[in-house]
Amino acid sequence: MEVIKVKDYNELSEIAANIMIDAVTKKPNITLGLATGGTPVGLYENLVKDYQNNGTSYKEVTTFNLDEYIGLEKTHDQSYSFFMHDNLFDHIDITEENVHVPCGTSADHIQEAKNYEQLIDENPIDFQLIGIGVNGHIGFNEPGTHINSVTSVVQLTDSTIEANARYFEGNEQLVPTKAISMGIGTIRNAKQILLIITGLSKAKIVKQLIEDPASEDVPASLLKDHPNFTIIIDEEAASLLDK
Ligand code: F6R
Repeated sequence: MEVIKVKDYNELSEIAANIMIDAVTKKPNITLGLATGGTPVGLYENLVKDYQNNGTSYKEVTTFNLDEYIGLEKTHDQSYSFFMHDNLFDHIDITEENVHVPCGTSADHIQEAKNYEQLIDENPIDFQLIGIGVNGHIGFNEPGTHINSVTSVVQLTDSTIEANARYFEGNEQLVPTKAISMGIGTIRNAKQILLIITGLSKAKIVKQLIEDPASEDVPASLLKDHPNFTIIIDEEAASLLDK
């Protein structure tokens, strides 16, 4: 596990983007695992800027997003499919057929999750980007999730619903209670994993993640023994660390 400490959100977004651009440049047909949420917005802005200025191409890139809310149409402005198109896919030359986000409105969510896992098995992820929830979740794998879990239908905890209400007019009632999420095992299968963490609200979980032994109580800590796992944290997120 490598920890890179940076000054602030801008630096984090630039460094993380450069790592991803480098990976795409080295392997133009790379399979990327992608995340949504507030944290990667700046990173995606930098990828778009780089595409416009330097022409890094995504034509042969395949992507798999970590998760999607159950019950939101792709066109809903808080669906993760909408987020990805709005923040990244609509602004680069990626091929729509190569883009994968679990479907939150299929007739059979359990089957959808199985199909998604199968598709990832057939297209192993080279580089997985993730964020972390204030309770340590990765994807929507909440505390207590097994290290070998695969893509499945998951229940959001109250703490995650409360944290995500900020994206739903501050109204917890509007936040879906279930999602389809890659499992921790699915994420661990990626060849390289990059976790980006910003802001004071994450300082407590960062301390647990970095200073305590791995435990199901902090799902992100189950990545600590992954052979190619990098964490980038800004000063605010690192503010409670002993050193
Ligand atoms: C998003 C995801 C979540 C977020 C996490 C942090 O696809 O899987 O695990 O990475 O909830 O979200 P933000 O960045 O909004 O604090």
